[in-house]
Amino acid sequence: MYILGIETSCDETGIAIYKEGKGIVANELYTQIPLHSQYGGVVPELASRDHLNKIFPLINLALEKASIELKDINAIAYTSGPGLVGALLVGATVAKTIAYGLNIPAIAINHMEAHLLAPLMEEEIPKFPFLALLVSGGHTQIYKVNKIGSYELLGESIDDAAGESFDKTAKLLGLEYPGGPKISKLAINAQDKYSFKRPMPQGLNFSFSGLKTAASNLIKKEELTQENKASIAKAFENAVIDLLSYKCKKALNENSINELIVSGGVSANSKLRATFKDLLNSLNGSVYYPKVEFSTDNGAMIAFTGYIKFKNGFRDKDLSINVKSRWNIDTL
Ligand code: KG4
Ligand code: ZN
Repeated sequence: MYILGIETSCDETGIAIYKEGKGIVANELYTQIPLHSQYGGVVPELASRDHLNKIFPLINLALEKASIELKDINAIAYTSGPGLVGALLVGATVAKTIAYGLNIPAIAINHMEAHLLAPLMEEEIPKFPFLALLVSGGHTQIYKVNKIGSYELLGESIDDAAGESFDKTAKLLGLEYPGGPKISKLAINAQDKYSFKRPMPQGLNFSFSGLKTAASNLIKKEELTQENKASIAKAFENAVIDLLSYKCKKALNENSINELIVSGGVSANSKLRATFKDLLNSLNGSVYYPKVEFSTDNGAMIAFTGYIKFKNGFRDKDLSINVKSRWNIDTL
């Protein structure tokens, strides 16, 4: 059984094929980052047009890599939200059209659920119930995962998402979009010259916009030498990771759970990975990540989530095309 996965929610065209019993047998990714970085962020209309340019060549390439033909596909999984509406519409329309032609189901996938489930593609997986920290460009959320499809929101950012705050702070430092990887690289050999106050909203919620403002004030005040830039990047990265791990520890303790998934673009961050590994070790538990290449947006996590839904009986062949810019997984 083969499931084709299509991801077009933002600035990456991701196409993958999941084979039952084997796993991901093709994974193609085209990133639009060079296109958008000249504008300092994603330009939605350009994103949609570029998805349209790349989606069919990438599907053909994926079929070739998997050594199969389109008619061998049993279902098509596509990102239906959350994301940029125009970009989502490209993937949704292509998915529904091919599905209609082949008389197979097209499965609407929630992008954040796919991020959450991505670590389950690995050999070692957590047992239910576990907690999940989703950290991406648009989301920072802690969920209790009772089973696949049952997600309880425990806390989330009340302002900027963690990835968004990386991107905004990077921009202030004159670094290109997307800023997360650039800040992280700059911070590696930096000195501990600065420290940011940790904003602490109630309960398990997060707040990151104050950090960006603090960074902005510091940048205005200090001479922006390469060393100072690196020290600011380090102080910022430390603060974000500290806040994420503090709230996750609290959530794990409150729920008497010691297994945690950390997923989404920011989970590619190596310092974050090391910090959470230490935290879960100290709790006699384990942290689970996707492969680094499946932390940021990709088609593999969509194909995999589609496979789970298909296996659980999804056979709908409805032809209407619906996408959602906002779509929380506790409403699934
Ligand atoms: O999951 P993702 O690829 O797209 C969304 O669904 O939003 O996440 C993208 C976000 C961006 O904000 C990017 O700066 C951040 O993930 N990111 C990182 C790293 N790699 C990507 N942030 C910190 N450190 C990284 N190594
Ligand atoms: Zn994402």
